[in-house]
Amino acid sequence: MAHTIVIFGASGDLTSRKLIPALFSLFKKNKLDGVMRIVGVSRSRFEHEQFRSSLRESAAKFSGKLFDDESWNEFSRHVYYHPGDIKDPSDFESLAKFLDEIEQGEPAGRLFYLSTMPQLYEQAIMQLGAAGLADDTNGFRRVIIEKPFGTDLATAHALNDSIHKVFREDQIYRIDHYLGKETVQNIFALRFANSIFEPIWNRNYVDHVQITVAEEVIIGRRAGYYDSAGILRDMFQNHILQLMMITAMEPPAKYDAALVRDEKVKVLHSIRKMVGGDFAADTVRGQYKGYLKEEGVPAGSQTETYAALKLYCDNWRWKGVPFYLRSGKGMSCRTTQIVIQFRQVPHILFGQKTRSPVGNRLVIQVQPAEGIQLHFETKVPESEMKTRTSTLDFDFNQASDGDMPDAYQRLLLDAILGDASLFARSDEVELAWGIIDPILAAWRSPASPPLHQYDPGMWGPPEANEWMGEQKREWFDVCPVLSSH
Ligand code: BG6
Repeated sequence: MAHTIVIFGASGDLTSRKLIPALFSLFKKNKLDGVMRIVGVSRSRFEHEQFRSSLRESAAKFSGKLFDDESWNEFSRHVYYHPGDIKDPSDFESLAKFLDEIEQGEPAGRLFYLSTMPQLYEQAIMQLGAAGLADDTNGFRRVIIEKPFGTDLATAHALNDSIHKVFREDQIYRIDHYLGKETVQNIFALRFANSIFEPIWNRNYVDHVQITVAEEVIIGRRAGYYDSAGILRDMFQNHILQLMMITAMEPPAKYDAALVRDEKVKVLHSIRKMVGGDFAADTVRGQYKGYLKEEGVPAGSQTETYAALKLYCDNWRWKGVPFYLRSGKGMSCRTTQIVIQFRQVPHILFGQKTRSPVGNRLVIQVQPAEGIQLHFETKVPESEMKTRTSTLDFDFNQASDGDMPDAYQRLLLDAILGDASLFARSDEVELAWGIIDPILAAWRSPASPPLHQYDPGMWGPPEANEWMGEQKREWFDVCPVLSSH
């Protein structure tokens, strides 16, 4: 059966920078499994040909070496445009007719991608339902919803309720592009396809876990969105909690969407709720100097551009092991790392006179270069049993010939194939909000911990280092441990 992908918000950035290049790359790799038509929908008036040529430049830019004119021409013949306003029911009726027309009345699967302003998600879904576009008697009907999914638990819950009036849960694909990153999926392989890591992946051997998503970029011209979101909503509720779930989850009985997500959800259930003094003791807030001068930021804004949290999973595997999560804009470099810090050896035989060994560390580098580094102690040659830290590197890029697919390729393909393992389920999204909401509320209360300032280009506020120091630990402040090629 030939499928159709319909992209709402077709004139937006995401379509040209991510979706079309990802679809083109899949096409080039002969993986665009049965997708024969891609239809862009937005309010602008374009002819099909105009829409196609408006996409060419960014497709060339973002598909890298896969791009060539001949293939683009072939691919773009499958791309159509249909003007439509999400607020206008008659536009959905005309869209339904247009789809029937290009599908020539043949049964076809349809994947609707909502890449519009989040305020329009609910209305778009209602309109799809009202125009009969959710009816899956003639092929699958699925909907992909971009982040942010709600702005807190109440709005996420209301959005889930509305969507469930039109689509069943198995038709809904809530995207978190971090799950499409190859290295994130590699954590499943590392943990569950090897026998050497799992036995030590627990409170008996692990001292703590650090998950860092550092970005060099500052907010630039995104103040309109960012100032009301802040870093907890923008990065923690979704991407960082996803990384934590995959790091902390139990092995599922099968690699299957329902079972994988069940295990992830159990991690969220186990995260200890912060109360009272915990908010001050276990969180650090920061804002980079100069944020208040960014275009569109209201005077005196208290929005965080940096946050560090200490969370605990109260379960058998992780009881007592802190998970330090942190993220910031305007940091010293762009790097996403998961650091499993193992405990110190029980009895130190060597190196007492020089330094105590740090303990083994496994660094999973999600980006920019993708790979894994293991830190372990070795003897300094020609010394009297002095030790130093050495490393073993695995470079994922090299293993894939330097051609790592962008996250959207994987996620679009999975949605076409009907595999929801790498998408967030309704309960997952709501539980994640349930963890973030109380922290946000505490940060907006008179008892909020202070908002520390930091210089762009640093690793966040110095107070975050002191905070770790007070716990006799330190951040792994190393810019990519593996470099990109
Ligand atoms: C987005 C956030 O979801 O993720 C951005 O809204 C952030 O603020 C981006 O910059 C980071 O994504 P990546 O893939 O570049 O790490």
